Amino acid sequence: MKIKNFKLERFYAKYEFTVPFMLSSSDAESFEIKKLLELEKGATEKFFEMKLSYTESQGNIELRNQIATLYRFISPDNIIVFSGAEEGIFVFINSILEEGDHVIVQYPAYQSLYEVCKANKIEVSYLQMIEAENWRLDINNIENLVQNNTKAILINSPHNPTGYLVTKEEQVTILEICQKNDIILFSDEVYRFSEYNEELRLVSACDLYRKGISLGVLSKPFGLPGLRIGWLALKNSALKKPIQAFKDYTTICNSGPSEFLATIAIKHSKRLLSRNMDIILKNLQELEVFLKKFSNHFEWVKPLAGNIGFIKIKFSNEVENFVEDVIKRKGVLLLPSTVFDYDNSHFRIGFGKENFSEALYLLEQYVKENL
Ligand SMILES: Cc1ncc(COP(=O)(O)O)c(C=O)c1O
Repeated sequence: MKIKNFKLERFYAKYEFTVPFMLSSSDAESFEIKKLLELEKGATEKFFEMKLSYTESQGNIELRNQIATLYRFISPDNIIVFSGAEEGIFVFINSILEEGDHVIVQYPAYQSLYEVCKANKIEVSYLQMIEAENWRLDINNIENLVQNNTKAILINSPHNPTGYLVTKEEQVTILEICQKNDIILFSDEVYRFSEYNEELRLVSACDLYRKGISLGVLSKPFGLPGLRIGWLALKNSALKKPIQAFKDYTTICNSGPSEFLATIAIKHSKRLLSRNMDIILKNLQELEVFLKKFSNHFEWVKPLAGNIGFIKIKFSNEVENFVEDVIKRKGVLLLPSTVFDYDNSHFRIGFGKENFSEALYLLEQYVKENL
């Protein structure tokens, strides 16, 4: 299989660990191992006594028990644990879709959602998001995109990079189309639990539809990307079997220590999420002040969830140059929209980290000195 470079990852590979201030992270503030272990009585001793053996390919049962609590009608048997959400996407596409199939993918999108399809010679159509209408999905067009060979619709909500949240009405329309045409709904829900208004949180696709597959992970609002623990939740055993079997060719099983820590993290998810939502909401307020102050240079549609937003620059159509210059002059890392195969006039900002104010201050200095 030949696959194009993952532009976002190649860009970050150049800068992420050398530029002093990361101001575009897709994940929220992380936790120390020690802090996680302290959440659970006796966990530290157990952790140090663990043997580094292979683990159950589907995922440790205690971990799957915990993951199941995040859904309504999902049992531990309906879950397959992966090394991050990225492996879940890769394995789903490689095991369920094949050459000649057609998929509909929300756009702009996290690149692997469409690039892994293209690498497998799967035909891709895009369901556009409309920036001028607060990034809403062009839902009226979805039916026109369906073909005889459409096998899956891939949706990401809450969305990277805009922070858009699919509405309940849009979700119903998507589900009706999937049901009517017997299409799989692959729902990338890695930012679930970061909705600013919890009433807008959607029921997971796996809980709503027999061919619904939900993708979850501990990387984003949970702030634990280093665990590399993600999962697919699905009730359909005909889909589950090939997905599970394909994993034998990627990672076979997960890291035992990560599974152990992930189990604790989900048991105490309320605490972890509430700490991170406090940081996110505080930073969001600061960011709104900044954007108001410099509204002649920047504009955005305020996200409805998550710790990232997609900001449009008004002063140029060369966002890559702007991003490179901010790195050079201030040591602050933004993410240009070109890595999303979008235009050249947006950048992603991340506001989930504790050092956000410092990084934003430097960006403000840049703006004052250079724009
Ligand atoms: C929408 C979306 N899906 C999947 C992933 C992959 O998550 P992970 O890095 O935890 O594998 C990301 C990471 O940025 C993402 O933004």
